[in-house]
Amino acid sequence: MSDPMDMRPEFEGLVAVVTGAASGIGLATALELARRGATVAAADLNTTGVPEPLHAYECDVSDGPGVTRTVERIARELGGIDVLVNNAGIGAQGTVADNDDQEWLRVLDVNVVGIARMSAAALPHLRRSRAAAIVNTASIAALVGLPRRAAYSASKGAVLALTRAMAADHVGEGIRVNCVSPGTADTPWVQRLLARTDDPAGELARLSARQPTGRLVTADEVAQAIAYLASPRSGSVTGISLSVDGGMAGFQLPS
Ligand code: NAI
Repeated sequence: MSDPMDMRPEFEGLVAVVTGAASGIGLATALELARRGATVAAADLNTTGVPEPLHAYECDVSDGPGVTRTVERIARELGGIDVLVNNAGIGAQGTVADNDDQEWLRVLDVNVVGIARMSAAALPHLRRSRAAAIVNTASIAALVGLPRRAAYSASKGAVLALTRAMAADHVGEGIRVNCVSPGTADTPWVQRLLARTDDPAGELARLSARQPTGRLVTADEVAQAIAYLASPRSGSVTGISLSVDGGMAGFQLPS
């Protein structure tokens, strides 16, 4: 049990690895964990612009040998791994009639197998930690059927199921595994999507109205949820999905 008089930052002395940490939710999470006292490895395809005090590591979660090399390097250079945030992900638009096999395999490879690769490489280090936690980034798309998101939704549904299975596998080793399920969040990803539409302002209004709060989720709001799940203070929380979606998965307002 934590000591109520302990005033040290909650992640002090812990090393966290965040994937997809150069942008959006990953960057906000890496900064929040650092603010709460963690030493943070920011792993991304491209780490240009990753700010201090984050430690930047170039890593493609779809490259098995590269993942193993990077995880070993992080553990060696930063002194172990206590927290792993599997956040890197890519999108895909369309129905099952629109995506070819190659796109399906690419989305599943990054969004699902990427989590398995990173987690498997980190497990030996997590097993040695006094406060081991994995947090995966799922999505509202895992919980609610959204139009024209077939492959992406399938990948995020798999992230949710994988989270629960991993929680069962590793609870006996003292490793907690949870996920966050964000609604549409105001990140560079969504800005890119909007820029590709004929009517970005109209599309933004439609996406905002879809969430009962009437606005997009912020990256920082998702980061707060990830930090809660990763925290040593959340020792009894494992196998859950925490929605950060402005109420979208939970209820509907009368129209
Ligand atoms: P973003 O596009 O702003 O950031 C994603 C980061 O992941 C980028 O820096 C990118 O370089 C990195 N990345 C992509 N593929 C990679 C790979 N193979 N290896 C390593 N890094 C890789 O996106 P955002 O919005 O911050 O999304 C982060 C996560 O949140 C994703 O898993 C996404 O599916 C999920 N999410 C996002 C929502 C949104 O509305 N923005 C809603 C629900 C979930």
